[in-house]
Amino acid sequence: MSEQVIENNAGQTGAGTQASGAAEPIAALTQEIAQLKEQRDAVILAHYYVPPEVQATADYVGDSFALAKLAVDLPQQTIVLCGVEFMGESAKLLNPNKTVLLPEPAADCPMAHMISKPDIDRVRAEYGDDLAVVCYVNSTAEAKTWSDVCVTSSNAVKICSNLPQRNILFIPDMNLGRYVASQLPDKHVILNKGYCPRHVTISVEQIIDLEEAHPDAVVMAHPECPADVLAEADYIGSTKGMIEHAAASDAQEFIVCTVVGIIRELELRTQGTGKRFHFPATTPRCENMDLVTLPKLAACLRNPAPYEVHVGDSLAPAARLTLERMLEYAAK
Ligand code: 13P
Ligand code: SF4
Repeated sequence: MSEQVIENNAGQTGAGTQASGAAEPIAALTQEIAQLKEQRDAVILAHYYVPPEVQATADYVGDSFALAKLAVDLPQQTIVLCGVEFMGESAKLLNPNKTVLLPEPAADCPMAHMISKPDIDRVRAEYGDDLAVVCYVNSTAEAKTWSDVCVTSSNAVKICSNLPQRNILFIPDMNLGRYVASQLPDKHVILNKGYCPRHVTISVEQIIDLEEAHPDAVVMAHPECPADVLAEADYIGSTKGMIEHAAASDAQEFIVCTVVGIIRELELRTQGTGKRFHFPATTPRCENMDLVTLPKLAACLRNPAPYEVHVGDSLAPAARLTLERMLEYAAK
């Protein structure tokens, strides 16, 4: 493996407030959402990190890649994306003629903003044609336009390994980029200093403490975790990958290094097996995913206009191409 880290000028943004209250009873909201969904020819997609009652209302729950891929094939005219902004944008880019709604338009992923154009231009100038700019899907539509191909945590290694270029500038996540580099010794991966503020709070000391308390547990980690946490992991993969690994494993106990919202699907998929899941003490919550509540889901279906995702014509064609390339390369 060979890797290098670039300095970057990009800032951090993202919502930092807690989810607003659910004054209306869940059963009444769920019923109303089901009726509105029919009336509007809508389908509800949710990420594993949103609150459990929102996942329970969704037609499909998945990781970033599954949600992007699904969005292309669904017959409904309206897609409601229960997740953060880049997920809504990806669904809109892949379905320009459909209505895509985000129940909480302010739910953003801070990492999506941790890259700037001059950082990319500098590396392109240095490496010329033997460079691919690989963009983690957790990125703005604009950052996608600066890139050659998108990836998610479930396909990053595969797609990077199939790229003809030896040099890869991986944006914006340094930890996923470093993990890709560790799996592809023939590539030279140039890293950018972006990170997930949630996953970087997980420390190797916490994992070692958990291993001492649960010596038979399998350690599963999302590749957004720091390198020393990944070094401690028995399995590294996307949210969906971890769920499938836990369901298929003979082990009874798991230490789970990712956002705690994943617990709903882990428990559903391992029901009746007695499998147990332990999270780090600073159990990471994604406060942006937490903003997506049932009352907001109902509100966006009652009155869709303010919740509609729009990607400007100046960005959409180039950003769409990077996502379409991801779908194409992932299918190879
Ligand atoms: P997945 O693609 O594994 O669902 O991860 C998305 C994400 O935002 C992780 O923090
Ligand atoms: Fe972004 Fe991290 Fe939340 Fe995933 S968990 S959406 S990377 S802030």
